[in-house]
Amino acid sequence: MAKTEQEESTKAIGYWEGENLERSKRYAYRPEFVPLLLDYLGAGPHKRILDVGCGTGFLARLLATRLEEVQVVGVEGDDKLLNLGRQKLEIEGLTDQVEIRKGDAYALPLPDKSFDLVTSHTLL
Ligand SMILES: C[S@@+](CC[C@H](N)C(=O)[O-])C[C@H]1O[C@@H](n2cnc3c(N)ncnc32)[C@H](O)[C@@H]1O
Repeated sequence: MAKTEQEESTKAIGYWEGENLERSKRYAYRPEFVPLLLDYLGAGPHKRILDVGCGTGFLARLLATRLEEVQVVGVEGDDKLLNLGRQKLEIEGLTDQVEIRKGDAYALPLPDKSFDLVTSHTLL
């Protein structure tokens, strides 16, 4: 997302500490790194991807915008972060590709073997 769009998106949903990593460019991957990351993850098109502890959905949204025809489900335990993530999906037009669900990584609210790939970005 271009800087001005990111700033506008942040302005639209308000400030929350959990967003600070994105806003401070902690996650500003160099463009040449992203294909390497996707290749490393084995994250191709037409896959169902689960992102555990998705927060506001940084990685989930990255996967959805970089890969064709993927469906990403993010699971997040914190209500404030998941609500902000859902707002970001609306703002960025990604609600068809990404869903953020409330859930615990220790008891995932999803059937076994229902995803091709599971990611988890800085889950603490
Ligand atoms: C450092 S944040 C990273 C968020 C996101 N993956 C990202 O890269 O922006 C860690 C996230 O994991 C979530 N989390 C921690 N333990 C969890 C658990 N047991 N189940 C679900 N989410 C959890 C936290 O609420 C938080 O949003």
